[in-house]
Amino acid sequence: MEIPFNYSNLAKTLRDRRQRLAQFIHFPAILWSGHRSSRNFPANTFPFRASSHFLYFAGLPLENAAIYLNEGKLELFIDEASPASTLWHGEMPKREEIAESIGADRDFPLAELELRATGAATIAVQDSYTRQQQSQILGRTLTSAQALEGIDQDLAKAIATLRLSHDTEALSELRKAAAVTVEAHKMGMKATQNSTLEAGVRGAMEGVIIAHNMPCAYSSIVTIHGEVLHNEQYHHPLQPGDLLLADVGAETALGWASDVTRTWPVNGKFSSTQRDIYDIVLAAHDQCIEKIRPGVEYQDIHLLAASIITQGLVELGILRGQISDLLEMDAHALFFPHGVGHLLGLDVHDMEDLGDLAGYEEGRERSDRFGLCFLRLNRSLKPGMVVTIEPGFYQVPAILHDPGRQAKYQNMVNWERLEQFADVRGIRIEDDVLVTENGSEVLTAALPNQAEKIEELVKEK
Ligand code: GLY
Ligand code: MN
Ligand code: MN
Repeated sequence: MEIPFNYSNLAKTLRDRRQRLAQFIHFPAILWSGHRSSRNFPANTFPFRASSHFLYFAGLPLENAAIYLNEGKLELFIDEASPASTLWHGEMPKREEIAESIGADRDFPLAELELRATGAATIAVQDSYTRQQQSQILGRTLTSAQALEGIDQDLAKAIATLRLSHDTEALSELRKAAAVTVEAHKMGMKATQNSTLEAGVRGAMEGVIIAHNMPCAYSSIVTIHGEVLHNEQYHHPLQPGDLLLADVGAETALGWASDVTRTWPVNGKFSSTQRDIYDIVLAAHDQCIEKIRPGVEYQDIHLLAASIITQGLVELGILRGQISDLLEMDAHALFFPHGVGHLLGLDVHDMEDLGDLAGYEEGRERSDRFGLCFLRLNRSLKPGMVVTIEPGFYQVPAILHDPGRQAKYQNMVNWERLEQFADVRGIRIEDDVLVTENGSEVLTAALPNQAEKIEELVKEK
């Protein structure tokens, strides 16, 4: 078997990344790729996904591997495939070949990694088997992302600095993920009229991604209950009059993500109430994207979305009062309870394994306000960053039926008027946006988001 990847610039890109890392840290680092977890017996496993920090510097999704990064050099530690593995999985590439394709300076069996342990920093991976290996080799217990300290914290900060702004190779991967995701959404819209369940649309969308030999970047949300923010059930029948919210994104073979949401009417025509709210969410989406450029605070983009949604809901008679008072009271968060987006890269919520270390600029902390506590990114935007913009409107029973919130917002919500919007349970419109030198580029712009265009796609045979 050959290495199923052929990226002419990969080795050079990886060399550039580790040399940039060496400008930020003056101690060695070991990054582990992770280990496959078994479902029941050892050979029946959950799909493997390499740690993103490993992928950033090692390029390929190697299993049970580690890299030692020091002074701009990379050493690869991985075992040759065993005869038993060759029997079941075929010939695997030799360590030397892998090392060459990623431009490693040297390569060794995994057992030799302990010779490099002294003074090395690391970042804990997700699977517990590998975490134990990390602790054992480094001779210390690894702390959680929230409690990172010493060289591990310095390493995390350095990696976050690099991963915040994407290089040419990363952008090329993000564009590939975006292009396939756009096709998946178009297919989902077209497949809706012939689907009886949410699962049928999900199948059509993921089928496009799988046919491009990609996995999904996260568990797909394809639901008529868009008010359940991370709904992962697909059993509901599709009924005329329902809105279907689909949040589905592809991930490239090298691990780069896309994250897109569209919401469309199952029967191909928005009701007037659905259309009213849809256009408010779209206005927030469009105006937020228009504001994106270097130097702009992402929190201000979030606040802009909050203000446009508030104004729209006041005009529809759902909220009442002065816009500024409503915003100050976080009344918009009754219907838009999450942040306007997040970083996107090797992970869909990029680097959130580091807590807020990547998402929040140094010295900033998450607010505990209802309208800000789910804001995942609070930084001044820089060229090369990719962020999502994903305003929404939801009628979440857990929020709207909460006695405390009902009392607090009693006079700010026209509850009777709200009842007329019962056919709008959840709408989100989400795109992936690159911050450029002068403004922005929507990587997923090829997917329509205007109501009429969406209706046309749903009706298309
Ligand atoms: N797909 C998860 C999110 O939009 O954040
Ligand atoms: Mn998102
Ligand atoms: Mn999403």
